[in-house]
Amino acid sequence: MKSYTLIAPAKINLHLEILGIRPDNYHELVMVMQTVDLADRVELRSLATDDIILHCGHPNVPLDRTNLAYRAAELMQQEFPDALSEYGGVEITLHKHIPIAAGLAGGSGNAAAVLVGIDLLWELGLTQGDLQKLGSRLGSDVPFCISGGTAIATGRGDVISPLPSLDGIYVVLGKYQSLAVSTPWAYTTYRHEYEHDYPQVLASLATRSHQIHSGDLVRAIVARDAVKIGKLLYNDLEKVVLPAYPQVSQLRAEFQRHANLGTMMSGSGPTVFSLATSLAQAETIYHQVRAAIPDPDLELFVTQFSDRGVRVV
Ligand code: C5P
Repeated sequence: MKSYTLIAPAKINLHLEILGIRPDNYHELVMVMQTVDLADRVELRSLATDDIILHCGHPNVPLDRTNLAYRAAELMQQEFPDALSEYGGVEITLHKHIPIAAGLAGGSGNAAAVLVGIDLLWELGLTQGDLQKLGSRLGSDVPFCISGGTAIATGRGDVISPLPSLDGIYVVLGKYQSLAVSTPWAYTTYRHEYEHDYPQVLASLATRSHQIHSGDLVRAIVARDAVKIGKLLYNDLEKVVLPAYPQVSQLRAEFQRHANLGTMMSGSGPTVFSLATSLAQAETIYHQVRAAIPDPDLELFVTQFSDRGVRVV
């Protein structure tokens, strides 16, 4: 039986701006996404039967179709029934290193790895674009997780424009293990509070989305100006998550207290991150935050920017 092992990295948002509501009830977004080295490992193996079998040692990861990785395999089975009969089902083993329900796209990355891995197992020869189209049916972050690196994401977050990749920027991530923020809750709450500010005319959405391409953050990325990138971090969802979760707000304040390039919450949270110019600076932040908050529930990670999404080992 053939098998593949894939690396499925986490992402952070350098910019997350909510422009308005879409006809499909999702939000129209402008984001700048960044892959980091912190990653899950996903093993795929062909089965003699048509089954999808999911294993994961993490107690909070579901093993049924509520798991996006399972749904990714199901989608491939529906789309490619001939390949399913020829090659059989798939056994998926997730080795989790990315915290779950964290705003780091861990679940989306696992699903992205399953799409990429089944394409290889079944010798389908799909392009990255084909895989991203399938991925967008599973979740808004899946297309970015497939290509990774540094990119602008617009639409639901599923329309990806690659940017020049960045390296040598380090990241300290912090997340309380027992704390999870529901992404639908974050967007719905934002909508209730800020709907009156949404641009009324669709044309202004297009203009704003266009502006980001020539905006300060993208210019700083092209110039590889880490100091400026750190100053320009932005996330609209902080406006609703921080007031509702004082623990996240306090963690963010603690991160900010120590010399860094910039601090922000990632996605819908509750992960908070600081950027650093060197591994030494990142490790100093890590130790300072750990000393200030010795709570074992707080998980801290040091990682760095990475230039690619899902990859085969
Ligand atoms: O696309 P995904 O399933 O990851 O999105 C999770 C939830 O986040 C959606 O059900 C929706 O409530 C919210 N969301 C949104 N607008 C987006 C992306 C996500 O409102 N562009």
